[in-house]
Amino acid sequence: MTDNILEVENLTREFVVRGQVVTAVDNISFNVARGEALGLVGESGSGKSTTARCVLRLIEPTNGAVRLNGVDITTLRGRKLRSFRSNAQLVFQDPYSSLDPRMNVSEIIAEGIRIHRPREKASVVRDEVVELLDVVGLRPDHLGRKPAAFSGGERQRIGIARALAVNPQLLVCDEPVASLDVSIQAQILNLFQDLKNRLGLTLLYIAHDLATVRHLCDRVAVMEQGSIREIGTREQLYTNPQHPYTKALIAAVPEPDPVEERRKLTERRAAAAARAKGAA
Ligand SMILES: Nc1ncnc2c1ncn2[C@@H]1O[C@H](COP(=O)(O)OP(=O)(O)OP(=O)(O)O)[C@@H](O)[C@H]1O
Ligand SMILES: [Mg+2]
Repeated sequence: MTDNILEVENLTREFVVRGQVVTAVDNISFNVARGEALGLVGESGSGKSTTARCVLRLIEPTNGAVRLNGVDITTLRGRKLRSFRSNAQLVFQDPYSSLDPRMNVSEIIAEGIRIHRPREKASVVRDEVVELLDVVGLRPDHLGRKPAAFSGGERQRIGIARALAVNPQLLVCDEPVASLDVSIQAQILNLFQDLKNRLGLTLLYIAHDLATVRHLCDRVAVMEQGSIREIGTREQLYTNPQHPYTKALIAAVPEPDPVEERRKLTERRAAAAARAKGAA
């Protein structure tokens, strides 16, 4: 028996836009096993975020079922709904707009703990916050600072710590590196990999392109126009893609060229050295 944390069955979500029905998600089914990272990949408008929002019960499905640990989440109320909210957490795409600029890092990370465990001692919450900062690679002296004092990558680390604060089993990541510099993207992807390995986290990881999910995800589902065109292990998908749309996505992955990379690096170093000389 496979141990599925998440089961999505015949999920459909429609929107009515100016009297017209738009089927954002069209009868899709997939599972995510405990400890697995499933990538959900597809171009803009293919229905990835709508799927994520249904999985997190931020919106209701038009049809179909979403089950977390075997429990249908669409009927949860009260205490069970709160427990679900701590079991499934979201990491947002934009670390600039998703952190409250008036709160400091400590408050941002502690907020979820306070909501889910309102009677917890302040010293316990503080210790947990410090530990979470360490888990995501930030320092304790960052605690009192506001989001504006951080880079995009650091902000995303804060967003991840906030999501982890309530000890979720499932982390839904909706393009969490898309708005970051390319050089920072790999660091955050490595952090997700590390969290998966160390904490046994289960991930539903959304991306536009196959390159991003290549190393992190065990399996990948390819979405187009609200449907899953193909789902398989990353080996299957990369070495033997079946659907034309998957093939097109693979063709779009840039080939890493070490010679070209080295040339650019040398150029950047020379330019930096020239700037340093000019400034001296
Ligand atoms: N609240 C809404 N009201 C009306 N239409 C919506 C709404 N949310 C999504 N849609 C439509 O549903 C379709 C899927 O959108 P969705 O945001 O899920 O795509 P996506 O794959 O996440 O795209 P992106 O990569 O740009 O984030 C699109 O046609 C979109 O316009
Ligand atoms: Mg989206």
